Amino acid sequence: MASKAYSLLLTILLLNLALALHATGIDYTYNFKSVANYLPSYTKKVFNSIDSCWRRNSNWNSNRQALANCAVGFGQAAMGGKYGRVYVVITPYDDPVNPKPGTLRYGVIQTQPLWIIFSKDMVIKLENELIVNSYKTIDGRGAKVEIAYGPCITIQGVSHVIVHGISIHDCRPGKRGMVRSSPTHVGQRQGSDGDAIAVFASSNIWIDHCYLARCTDGLIDVIHASTGVTISNNYFSQHDKVMLLGHSDQYSTDKVMKVTVVFNHFGPGLVERMPRVRFGYAHVANNRYDQWLKYAVGGSANPTIFSEGNYYVASDNKQVTKREVYRNWKNWKWRSSRDAFINGAYFVQSGYGSIDPNYSARQSFTVAPGSLAPALTSDSGPLKCVVGQAC
Ligand SMILES: *[C@@H]1O[C@H](CO)[C@@H](O)[C@H](O)[C@H]1NC(C)=O
Repeated sequence: MASKAYSLLLTILLLNLALALHATGIDYTYNFKSVANYLPSYTKKVFNSIDSCWRRNSNWNSNRQALANCAVGFGQAAMGGKYGRVYVVITPYDDPVNPKPGTLRYGVIQTQPLWIIFSKDMVIKLENELIVNSYKTIDGRGAKVEIAYGPCITIQGVSHVIVHGISIHDCRPGKRGMVRSSPTHVGQRQGSDGDAIAVFASSNIWIDHCYLARCTDGLIDVIHASTGVTISNNYFSQHDKVMLLGHSDQYSTDKVMKVTVVFNHFGPGLVERMPRVRFGYAHVANNRYDQWLKYAVGGSANPTIFSEGNYYVASDNKQVTKREVYRNWKNWKWRSSRDAFINGAYFVQSGYGSIDPNYSARQSFTVAPGSLAPALTSDSGPLKCVVGQAC
């Protein structure tokens, strides 16, 4: 009797799960054995809506630029080097003023669109900030590429940049000095903070499948009226101030900022700012949070935050949210929908009125219930891609 009831329950659960997966367009090409082993270990073949756009193609290497059709959210239109030549980085060597052909810096400063790839595994220790020009893709697929132990990436005053499949870690502040930003311009830099990726006054930016950890300042900053940004499929760990969206409480021009943070895995050793938002709009969807020491999602200066379908695992500190002020935040629109709260995690909502991101048809994607976020993020970070095989 008990076992009959149990198997009925199991059937209903599986049916519901299958319907949920069907409704969200997630692939499930494997057989269920039991509910218990479904999450989070038995999840290899679940592709989220970005990955399912390209990862099944074993010819990814001969049509790398197809990746540029796969972003969702506010950064969906980021073209990167879509219509440009493929440029191959063959050496980790760096010269910030007179970059040599074959180096990463020589590729990223060019004015024409370029799809930048790597001939072999390499650790690139930059001599100063890497200033990326418009219409560039940095595509690490097929090699293990690390930018580490020196200054890292600056995306400033440009548009249409894609960064995919590289590790950016242990970034250090840039030095004062001359750095080339285009074939015809070398500028005096004041030194940088030591972010992994700083996005400054830029638009149509997509950061996908990167590993980000242990930097002097933030892992990703999106500031100075940057907008049209998607941050997806990344693996973050071992860092204090993870992601800053919005420059300062005085910089109200950041009201234009729209950022989608989706399918990321916020792993062990993270403290706060996943993200910290000011003024603009952040759609935080289907991310997995393993812990936060201070808070996960926070901000100041009346930002709008839509937390949808995330998987929040609390450690000692149970509150997901933090307002970096003591009062006058009751009208800030911070909303949680279909998030999964584990181990006592809770989200303090506020405000009223529409929280909808108002995505266009091409930007929009299906957000699964929070319980599925571990499956949807199980391949976050750089993928091991072999030529001739699906990634
Ligand atoms: C979406 O539309 C509503 C209603 O017009 C508006 O209040 C809200 O600010 C819009 N959201 C975004 C992200 O633009």
